[in-house]
Amino acid sequence: MKVVLTYGTFDLFHYGHIELLRRAKTYGGRLVVGLSTDKFNEVKGKRCVFSFDKRKELLSSIRYVDEIFEEYSWEQKISDVKRYKADFFVMGNDWGGKFDFLKPYCEVIYLPRTDEISTTLIKTLLSS
Ligand code: CTP
Repeated sequence: MKVVLTYGTFDLFHYGHIELLRRAKTYGGRLVVGLSTDKFNEVKGKRCVFSFDKRKELLSSIRYVDEIFEEYSWEQKISDVKRYKADFFVMGNDWGGKFDFLKPYCEVIYLPRTDEISTTLIKTLLSS
């Protein structure tokens, strides 16, 4: 069974997230998601509306997702790929090229983002 790995914050869960997860899952039998911790989001300068536990609860209810683990640093990806024996690493193309250093370990795929939706946009709409 092929293993697919992806990462994200998945705050204010939206249709773009579903589309990313749905397409990622088509590459294999098992989709494993690295969900960024609240602490790591601080490092990235992201402030989440929902806590890690709530984002995890929501993500785990999505039928394409088989397993969730903590993304706590930029440096963990190579060891995650090895640990999960990932065949594919999938991200939206806003990250295009950024994870090419994983190519010696697995196939790296950047999927087109879904237009006109993002957590940032929802936050902006809510605050306007
Ligand atoms: N994603 C996507 N299409 C969108 C929004 C996100 O394909 N419209 C993908 C991202 O490329 C990433 C994953 O979903 O692979 C998780 O993205 P995340 O950063 O959690 O969501 P965003 O909505 O992009 O959040 P932000 O606006 O804070 O960047």
